[in-house]
Amino acid sequence: MPVEASRSRHGMVYIVGAGPGPADLLTLRALDRIQRAEVVLHDRLIAPDVLALLPPQAERLYVGKALGHHAVAQAQIHALLIEQARMGRCVVRLKGGDPHIFGRGGEEVQALQAAGLSFEVVPGVSASNGCASAAGIPLTHRELAHSCTFLSGHLAQGDIDSGANLDWAALARPRQTRVFYMGVERVASIARRLIAHGLAPDTPAAIVQDGTRPSQRVWAMGLEALVEQAPPYGPRPGLLIIGETVALSPHFVAAVAASLSPGAKASQPREQADHFSGTGREPRRSIPG
Ligand SMILES: C[S@@+](CC[C@H](N)C(=O)[O-])C[C@H]1O[C@@H](n2cnc3c(N)ncnc32)[C@H](O)[C@@H]1O
Repeated sequence: MPVEASRSRHGMVYIVGAGPGPADLLTLRALDRIQRAEVVLHDRLIAPDVLALLPPQAERLYVGKALGHHAVAQAQIHALLIEQARMGRCVVRLKGGDPHIFGRGGEEVQALQAAGLSFEVVPGVSASNGCASAAGIPLTHRELAHSCTFLSGHLAQGDIDSGANLDWAALARPRQTRVFYMGVERVASIARRLIAHGLAPDTPAAIVQDGTRPSQRVWAMGLEALVEQAPPYGPRPGLLIIGETVALSPHFVAAVAASLSPGAKASQPREQADHFSGTGREPRRSIPG
């Protein structure tokens, strides 16, 4: 059963997970709620083809953030949700991925509950399982990974460097997959902490940029090499995945094959564009170095 409070004379708020990008990764329930919208509050990572599914007459309020800076403070988003619902409107709060995984959906639910308003949370495909599947990386595996941890790299740089906040010793233990949201720009600090706590420097690791989208890019190689070859931090979202199962990805297999080919430099390949299925496109045949 969806989490839905009893309806009141006020409007209804749908907190909808829009998935990692492409509209065809929306759930049918998300599509249904989106199409009921009278007003939509949406984030930066919502793709244009998802926004295209909104009713044309729905009012759109952008409340995202640009490169680390909140365009609208979280408290203001709560106030807007409450104000719009009290006007009796059908409000859709459209969020990237799943609302309850590093999405601040919990805080919005608390605000709506405190205001006595009706709401429903619609789950979405999160970046972790979306990107992992699209890049051919199993998050768990009977032999290689018995657990998977979702982490935020969005701690103050000093926190990561000093080792505070995360249990690095536990994270360095074998047979697990670590998935860092907002961690690409901190890959060097994250790798340093894990290796200092005993993780092998050549542990398979990947950065999936624009995962599940036609523009998807994957860098897959040993962790230490990945630190050197990580893409520069920019506006495209990226996910960092560290663990033995990354070795099962065709991107990793291609990287190893390229590094063994005659004349290959030790650090090849630098970047693997998406030559493999998983983004809804036909696999391409050739793999440039
Ligand atoms: C604020 S978090 C929101 C996560 C979202 N609630 C979810 O469940 O996916 C944003 C981070 O998710 C990751 N992310 C979201 N979409 C992504 C995508 N298509 N490809 C790679 N990473 C993505 C990136 O690490 C980005 O910095």
